Amino acid sequence: MSLIDEIEPLRVEALAAFDAAGSLRELDQARVSFLGANGRFTALLKGMGALSKEERPVVGKSLNIAKGALEKRLAGRVAELELQEAMPAFPTDFSAPGRRRALGRRHPLTQVTEDIAKSFRRIGFAVADGPEVEDEEHCFDALNTPKDHPARDAQDTFFLNDGSLLRTHTSSVQIRAMRQQPPPIRIIVPGRVYRRDTADATHNPTFHQIEGLYVDRGVTVADLKGTVEHVFKDLLGKDVKLRFRPHYFSYTEPSFEIDFSSALTKKMGKEWLEIAGCGMVHPQVFENVGYDPEVWSGWAFGFGIERIAMIRYAVSDIRLFYENDVRFLNQF
Ligand code: DAH
Repeated sequence: MSLIDEIEPLRVEALAAFDAAGSLRELDQARVSFLGANGRFTALLKGMGALSKEERPVVGKSLNIAKGALEKRLAGRVAELELQEAMPAFPTDFSAPGRRRALGRRHPLTQVTEDIAKSFRRIGFAVADGPEVEDEEHCFDALNTPKDHPARDAQDTFFLNDGSLLRTHTSSVQIRAMRQQPPPIRIIVPGRVYRRDTADATHNPTFHQIEGLYVDRGVTVADLKGTVEHVFKDLLGKDVKLRFRPHYFSYTEPSFEIDFSSALTKKMGKEWLEIAGCGMVHPQVFENVGYDPEVWSGWAFGFGIERIAMIRYAVSDIRLFYENDVRFLNQF
């Protein structure tokens, strides 16, 4: 029998052997016996050397076509058998009871943020947002804190190569919001902020704040006190007492720090705990955003979400919030 007549029967035989293999192991044996170094199909390929110059292209073409068909079938069978061997020996019992999935829960910082937002929404505040990568203009200059201002020392932060920085407070969004819309304005801004701080029980280089801003005609310190008190009682209980202490911020005048007292602070061994900064928006800030300070007045505040969460849940170390240890997270 000449070489060309052997191709077709061998091709048919090899395909049948591939189809008959019942496992990857058997399939590999079949492959070796036809396509291995000493395989029977390989022998035909080797036989090409003995052919005349005229025969060689014709036979070569037939061999290539046959070889292609064998390799294709082989690959198909490998895929089939792999799937088959991956299947369980016994079929799935669909009547078996389902596996109950443990319910996830929200991170304590998210819970506090959402509760604060809920409380403010009820009295007509919208939630606003701004970028964490900021520029000095929004973070400092427009907030009446120019380059040489000592208040900048307390808010050292991380700078990027292009001169932008990671915002040190959510107050930057006051500027963005006011430049984007005319007064009146009533927003809160929850968000992540950054400082060049060493982590310890009460500090972390990233933490979270909520900013508040209220601008309208005839807004007073009484509005500020009433609003903040309402929200904190909502959040931390009716027995909460607040105290406003004079303070300095460059973007408010007058400015205050808010201290807070309740059964929770007493449990921590403290009568008063400082919780927020606030004040009446400085006329210069209004000028900077194009609001007429003769017409508009407003208040602003900013507080740390971690601070509140630590009080609310009696957490003694701020770093616990970021470690994502489920033994900690499961408690909320
Ligand atoms: N931005 C201040 C801080 O990070 C907090 C603050 C103080 C925000 C007074 C305000 C404000 O809006 O009026 O420490």
